[in-house]
Amino acid sequence: MLARFAALVAARAEHTASRAFFTPKADRWEARFAADTPAYVSAVSRMGLRPGQTALDVGCGTGRVLPALREEVGDKGTVLGVDVTPAMLAAAAREGRGGSARLLIADCLRLPLPSGTVDGIFSAGLLNHVADPPAALCEWARVVRPGGTLLLFHPSGRAERAARHGRPLSPDDPLAEANLRPTLDATGWRTDCYDDARDYFLTRAIRTGGTG
Ligand SMILES: C[S@@+](CC[C@H](N)C(=O)[O-])C[C@H]1O[C@@H](n2cnc3c(N)ncnc32)[C@H](O)[C@@H]1O
Repeated sequence: MLARFAALVAARAEHTASRAFFTPKADRWEARFAADTPAYVSAVSRMGLRPGQTALDVGCGTGRVLPALREEVGDKGTVLGVDVTPAMLAAAAREGRGGSARLLIADCLRLPLPSGTVDGIFSAGLLNHVADPPAALCEWARVVRPGGTLLLFHPSGRAERAARHGRPLSPDDPLAEANLRPTLDATGWRTDCYDDARDYFLTRAIRTGGTG
């Protein structure tokens, strides 16, 4: 009981920190990163989604990938965009992304979705922001059906990003191959592709086993 309460307090503190970080950036996010959008669209095409399926963007921000997910699943499919920062979702709504997807304010560690109901998750720039990446990958595995896909993307490689921030590549980086592969294995995923190129990062994993 006490442990659960402590976990809730920790989660609340993490949300507050995320919102404090991303809220001031929300209004300019779209314009600032518009040049990356074609790379996002190309990454989405590697998810193997089919018409009629359900796609989820976790940490969707302003939702710039949501139209591409809608293209993949078509009118009969379902597209969901989840983010914990209301200002990001407000910016998504102003960009008209509500026309492509349902926008949900939620924590990626507690998705408001039944188990095994999602065919593919896209996530860009989130996993290295959460305090407990294995817990996030477990929760994402919960909502994805066996055989479904997880695509982790960033429009620059880890080395380029570290250099841009003036720091060395950390061995503790959750996206480092030596960390990410075993974490995916332990949380209900099989790594299908790990590509840390100069100008993009892309990992695709397939949901294993039952729906949990
Ligand atoms: C680096 S931004 C990336 C936004 C978008 N995916 C993109 O690439 O343009 C990370 C996003 O994750 C959201 N986020 C941070 N922690 C979260 C959490 N625990 N649950 C859901 N979203 C979260 C932030 O609000 C922010 O919009």
